Amino acid sequence: MSTYKDVWERSINDPVGFWGEAAKGIDWYREPTVILDDTTAPIYHWFSDGMLNTCFNALDRHVENGLGDQLALIYDSPVTDTKSTYTYHQLLDEVAHFAGVLKALGVEKGDRVVIYMPMIPQAAIAMLACARLGAVHSVVFGGFAAHELALRIEDAQPKIVVSASCGIEVNRIIEYKPLIDAALDESTHKPTHCVIFQRPQATSSMMPGRDVDWVEAMDRSTPAECVPVAATDPLYILYTSGTTGRPKGVVRDNGGHAVALHWSMSHIYDTHPGEVFWAASDVGWVVGHSYIVYAPLLAGCTTVLYEGKPVGTPDAGAYWREISEYGVKTLFTAPTGFRAIKREDPSGALLAQYDMSKFRYLFLAGERLDPETYSWASDLLGVPVIDHWWQTETGWPIASNHMGLDPMEAKAGSPTVPVPGFDVRIFDETGEEVETGKEGLIMIRTPLPPGCMAQVWGDDDKFFDAYLSHSPGYYLTGDGGHFDEDGYLFVMGRVDDVINVAGHRLSTGEVEEILSSHPDVAECAVIGVVDDLKGQVPRGLVVLKAGVDRDHEVIAAELVQRVRDQLGAVVCLRQVDVISALPKTRSGKVLRKNMRSIADGVDIPVPSTIDNPAALEALRPILRSV
Ligand code: COA
Ligand code: AMP
Repeated sequence: MSTYKDVWERSINDPVGFWGEAAKGIDWYREPTVILDDTTAPIYHWFSDGMLNTCFNALDRHVENGLGDQLALIYDSPVTDTKSTYTYHQLLDEVAHFAGVLKALGVEKGDRVVIYMPMIPQAAIAMLACARLGAVHSVVFGGFAAHELALRIEDAQPKIVVSASCGIEVNRIIEYKPLIDAALDESTHKPTHCVIFQRPQATSSMMPGRDVDWVEAMDRSTPAECVPVAATDPLYILYTSGTTGRPKGVVRDNGGHAVALHWSMSHIYDTHPGEVFWAASDVGWVVGHSYIVYAPLLAGCTTVLYEGKPVGTPDAGAYWREISEYGVKTLFTAPTGFRAIKREDPSGALLAQYDMSKFRYLFLAGERLDPETYSWASDLLGVPVIDHWWQTETGWPIASNHMGLDPMEAKAGSPTVPVPGFDVRIFDETGEEVETGKEGLIMIRTPLPPGCMAQVWGDDDKFFDAYLSHSPGYYLTGDGGHFDEDGYLFVMGRVDDVINVAGHRLSTGEVEEILSSHPDVAECAVIGVVDDLKGQVPRGLVVLKAGVDRDHEVIAAELVQRVRDQLGAVVCLRQVDVISALPKTRSGKVLRKNMRSIADGVDIPVPSTIDNPAALEALRPILRSV
């Protein structure tokens, strides 16, 4: 067996040879001869003269290779009491027909399609149908409110929006159609059609001429064939929170994405054709794109699409039931889910009811894995628990323990070591590399490996400005951390204004923009504070305009509601405090880091440049109160 060390070194010293070989795991219409294209460095492109189709690689080729009767997708929905399965043959048939629906509505290669769906198979079918046509999907997480959907529609300019009549949050029905209608009212860009999958829990009214019923359109559709695309053509845009109030559209290409994900399934996840892989996430997040839909199918595995929660649907044994019922080998989820299970069933008693004999690995990502949750899950499950670190921008893990190479001894609190292709370094603020053991900014030497973003949608300079301009030749991850003397990486958290709430990435800047738009608010700050269950939650601090004498509690409640309505309930902003002044430096910078540390009970030194120390002192008791 190849050792991790040899494989990683080869990937860095001979990236062309390494990724050229990995590309053989994918079927190409035209095999790439240019493996690494540096003509636009520092922005690099992989496999630039290759032609392929991602949907062909995820479905058609498995059917052609005799896997047609194997299960491709299992749908399990405790919230609707529904289970269904699709073989590769059946999934291909559905996808080809839905590609036919989109084609008949005028969708062609390069057109954008916004998908705003709950966790139902039709979400994956719509994504794969876009890939089949060479169209570019942009999936919007169902927990985002109308305004967020409108921002994405405005930016991506989709020809079509695909959605469903409703989502179900445990026992609450969330009607999607009013949200779509509101988003389309707000957006200046209007798609030509909305395709709606009507669910029996709530059917929506349709706008004649614009809205198309999924089932009726499928009945009339003729299946569409795969359209060859260039490896560098975009497969999807996924919006993610950055440091500004506006989400950035991360663009993923077809070729690098397929090669990297296919490679990751065997080498990182040790999961192979015919085995069952379950990413308990949501198709609206990058984990859902990569490891519910694309990677397991590219690798010929069976993927599980679960419309439920770790607890409450119906109990804290839901994950164990799923694993036992479907023979899951590998589960990938966020630590929050496990903290929720631990809170409800601290001794893990419910596990005893289930057959876990096929279960081999638990992979966790999306937020820092706290050592307590790591130990609890390891002790309970008796299988390797693998903390791995990644970002929407990279699309696959940057650091992990490699279960398909030679697994290393885990260290709690560390996602182990850089994945092949990622040359990870730690820098100080001035751009100098720091010594082992010292904390700093985590950077990645370019070129980034295949599968990582190379463009922000609609803004040619943004990728360079936001990620590559900090230190020439390096990608700025936005996370802080260090290496220990054994070469293990420790990721300690974001160094910017991004927060992770229950594994969901959000920007405090976006929340601040909403708070500031309230007529009574003069200025505000939003900070992420530690939360036992969700890792982090936001807290709002607002200063009111002079002369506003309304009840502070009423204003705070309005602000909480405003964020729910405009961004979504998933933000979990529950506490907004009205204060008399924000602590700032003399140059006007709000001291968010100091406020955050006070709230978390770990004071850091107050900078000598503080302009109003009294404001920070006045905040102490407020920040320490919950
Ligand atoms: N559509 C609409 N609303 C949604 C939603 C969706 N897709 N997802 C979440 N929400 C709402 C919830 O209903 C909730 O609303 P409420 O405030 O009215 O109760 C709010 O957003 C917060 O939801 P959630 O973060 O799910 O918190 P919770 O307290 O309901 O559940 C956990 C806590 C830990 C069970 C849940 O956060 C969880 O399952 N986390 C794992 C997340 C995960 O797997 N992430 C993967 C990323 S890799
Ligand atoms: P997202 O883009 O939603 O995948 O969120 C990416 C961010 O989540 C990273 O920049 C980290 O801050 C955080 N993150 C993801 N995985 C881990 C991990 N294993 N350990 C620590 N932080 C993580």
